[in-house]
Amino acid sequence: MSRAVNILSLILFSVVLVFGNADIASAAKQKKIPKSPKFVGAVKCNGSCHDSYYQAWKNSPHGKTFDLLKPGVREEAKVRVKLDPKKDYTTTPLCLRCHTTGYGQKGGFQPAGTMKKGKDVSSPVDPNEPNKEQVGCEMCHSVAGGAQFRVVMKNTKGDFHKTDTEQYGQRWDYPNVCTRCHTHRNTPFQPTVHDKYKFNFEERKKKVHEIDKYWTPDNQDQKLEKIKDRKNEKAKSESVPLLIEDFDIKDDKIVFKKEAMPYDPKAGTFNYKK
Ligand code: HEC
Ligand code: HEC
Ligand code: HEC
Repeated sequence: MSRAVNILSLILFSVVLVFGNADIASAAKQKKIPKSPKFVGAVKCNGSCHDSYYQAWKNSPHGKTFDLLKPGVREEAKVRVKLDPKKDYTTTPLCLRCHTTGYGQKGGFQPAGTMKKGKDVSSPVDPNEPNKEQVGCEMCHSVAGGAQFRVVMKNTKGDFHKTDTEQYGQRWDYPNVCTRCHTHRNTPFQPTVHDKYKFNFEERKKKVHEIDKYWTPDNQDQKLEKIKDRKNEKAKSESVPLLIEDFDIKDDKIVFKKEAMPYDPKAGTFNYKK
């Protein structure tokens, strides 16, 4: 009898040891969530979790938006909206807002020649590895940058609910977020200029990630296992979309209108449409 009890307690002890340690080990791997949202760039989403999405994006129109600001590119389209086809627009604040990631916001793209305290802090531009200089993941998937929810995704190994990341600024109001740029009052490329600038979300959505072409034997482990469950969840931003930034250019600087910002950095809260 006492022998059986001994064996039983030994088994119990081992179970606690093994599972207890596993818990400690996984707790140690949990990374700390940064204090506030901030743009980190598309490259951060590549490399371990979303390689296929990165490749699909890199080869999509949004992975090449910076290039359109260079002289001699899409001359006909520029002339049509009275832009100078020979001009270099790669440091023009108006254009950078919609052709790069997070321009004028925390962590966002800094054009060539940006100096801070006598130091050049401009963002690197590498044609082989597009990053903040293009319209990256965070321009569609985040309110004010993905620094925080990226950690939540990593800590949960992709097993998160929409509400878990939404409270850290992931946005799910896809049809709404496109109007940050498409049909925004500040884009020169309005539907009134040419029919091709008309915006049909359902049609356009299909071209954003042509993901099926980018699954390879090497990235199978990154398939989103929880995607089906999440389709059945509803994030708050899906029923009440977030505000869309409005902005003006004053003295060659971008000035966002306070009342139109989807995120209030002082209060740390998100602003939804009324
Ligand atoms: C408010 C956002 C916004 C601003 C500001 C903006 N763009 Fe764009 N731009 C867009 C969008 C959206 C498209 C894609 C339109 C489409 O295909 O429906 C685009 C497309 C373009 C194209 C390709 C057009 C074509 O038909 O091939 C060029 C070139 C371009 N932009 C250059 C510029 C330049 C230069 C500036 C600054 C003077 C600028 N853009 C400012 C949002 C913007
Ligand atoms: C121009 C906007 C845009 C950009 C840029 C963009 N995405 Fe997306 N993404 C979308 C839209 C829209 C969907 C939803 C597609 C659908 O429902 O068919 C989506 C879906 C996804 C999904 C599936 C999420 C789910 O649970 O449904 C992942 C993962 C994803 N994107 C990752 C990325 C990554 C990583 C990048 C950058 C390398 C990126 N996206 C860039 C618009 C964008
Ligand atoms: C930060 C600005 C920005 C946002 C947000 C944005 N786009 Fe774009 N989009 C652009 C620019 C700039 C282009 C021009 C690329 C080109 O002409 O090569 C473009 C081009 C496109 C194109 C290619 C047009 C074509 O037929 O060649 C599609 C499709 C598209 N966008 C869909 C979307 C969808 C869907 C969303 C929202 C989920 C979205 N975009 C959000 C800036 C943006």
